[in-house]
Amino acid sequence: MEKPDLADTELTFCRLRTHQCCFILFNIALFHVLLFGADLVEEYFLRGLSTTYTDMRMLDVRERARKLDMSPLKPNISKAYILSSSDACIHKEVFLLVLTFSHPENASRRNTIRQTWANATDIRGYSAVILFVLGKPSSETTQLEIMKEFQEHRDLIEGSFLDSPKNQTLKTTKAVEWSVTFCPGARFILKTDEEMFVNLANLVDYLLSLRTRLENVYLGRVVHHEVPNRDPQSPNFVPLQIYPEKYYSDYCSPTAFVISQDVARMIYVTSPEVPLSMPPGVFVGTCTKNAGVTPIHSSRFSGKKHIQYNQCCYKFIFTSAVSRDSQLVREWEEVSDGKACTLLETYYGLVSCRVMTYLDGFKHLGVDALQNEALHFAD
Ligand SMILES: *[C@@H]1O[C@H](CO)[C@@H](O)[C@H](O)[C@H]1NC(C)=O
Ligand SMILES: *[C@@H]1O[C@H](CO)[C@@H](O)[C@H](O)[C@H]1NC(C)=O
Ligand SMILES: *[C@@H]1O[C@H](CO)[C@@H](O)[C@H](O)[C@H]1NC(C)=O
Ligand SMILES: *[C@@H]1O[C@H](CO)[C@@H](O)[C@H](O)[C@H]1NC(C)=O
Repeated sequence: MEKPDLADTELTFCRLRTHQCCFILFNIALFHVLLFGADLVEEYFLRGLSTTYTDMRMLDVRERARKLDMSPLKPNISKAYILSSSDACIHKEVFLLVLTFSHPENASRRNTIRQTWANATDIRGYSAVILFVLGKPSSETTQLEIMKEFQEHRDLIEGSFLDSPKNQTLKTTKAVEWSVTFCPGARFILKTDEEMFVNLANLVDYLLSLRTRLENVYLGRVVHHEVPNRDPQSPNFVPLQIYPEKYYSDYCSPTAFVISQDVARMIYVTSPEVPLSMPPGVFVGTCTKNAGVTPIHSSRFSGKKHIQYNQCCYKFIFTSAVSRDSQLVREWEEVSDGKACTLLETYYGLVSCRVMTYLDGFKHLGVDALQNEALHFAD
């Protein structure tokens, strides 16, 4: 028998190595596609396309929004709020108005937010005004505490409706009304919740990068093709008479989204035509749809999810849901330490927090939610 000659062996070895290399490369590519592909595809397909406004109703809405003049209504509207902070935007060129929805009872969370991500009036040289939006508390004592808090911080807007889960859409319309009335110069408006960690510097950088696009901005984590809740037992039940269509129009998760001033005006103008019984996010999405504004998706908004903490990841994202005050403080301290992340560190951070957040879903939510998680991951 002939011995296999050396060159042959080497060739086989080489081929094997090539196969192995290919296999490893393929796996790396697959890993990235699985991890980030959905985001890229989403961002591509859900990007706000420029529309031509041929629909007469849309044109009418846009025209009314353009002509909207709230100044004669100011004195009356300010009376309709218990606390109106109506001079918060006066004598300032406001780039970003931040309206943080808060429960009247959660004074301690508001303080934590004031000491962390909201401790800024100037971001990258652009001015920001950061306020909390509340409804009425159910107890008189809490109302007195809120009055005291207002004396100290002067950053509360309190509507004259009861702050209940059912009244959150009403709260949203009040926040929009307040913005177009008392802060008509704000270029962008961020609506967020007290549960959120917000990286304002990242968001401002992003908004600045839009450059020419100062109008028709409705930006957030887009919820695509959501089916309305048709279970009469559920608190979020939406009857067919109120919303007959099979899917909601696309909307941005109400946990955090940005609109430009013109979009706020369009929402204000069309909101009387949309039922207040719709969930807050859907309500806004329906108003913007009536005006021909499509939501722009960014996966840097977390939605309701907590993004597993990783310093470089948090220096990249816009928002993450954080439940405990202590956690918010700790994460903020680390994020604001001034150390910049290199491209590689940011990349590693993103992979890490993506994977950890994904695994976290399995750990906390149990088997039932596993399917939902998988869907969310792939959506
Ligand atoms: C303000 O409210 C008063 C009383 O409710 C009303 O008479 C008046 O017409 C209102 N003014 C405007 C500009 O709407
Ligand atoms: C808030 O910001 C100011 C000025 O940037 C800083 O001096 C202060 O220490 C900050 N407060 C907290 C609680 O971080
Ligand atoms: C919403 O607010 C109004 C005005 O304060 C109040 O009458 C109503 O009961 C509230 N709705 C719910 C469901 O709490
Ligand atoms: C705020 O208050 C509500 C109701 O009182 C409570 O359910 C929620 O957990 C609180 N949120 C925070 C962030 O403290």
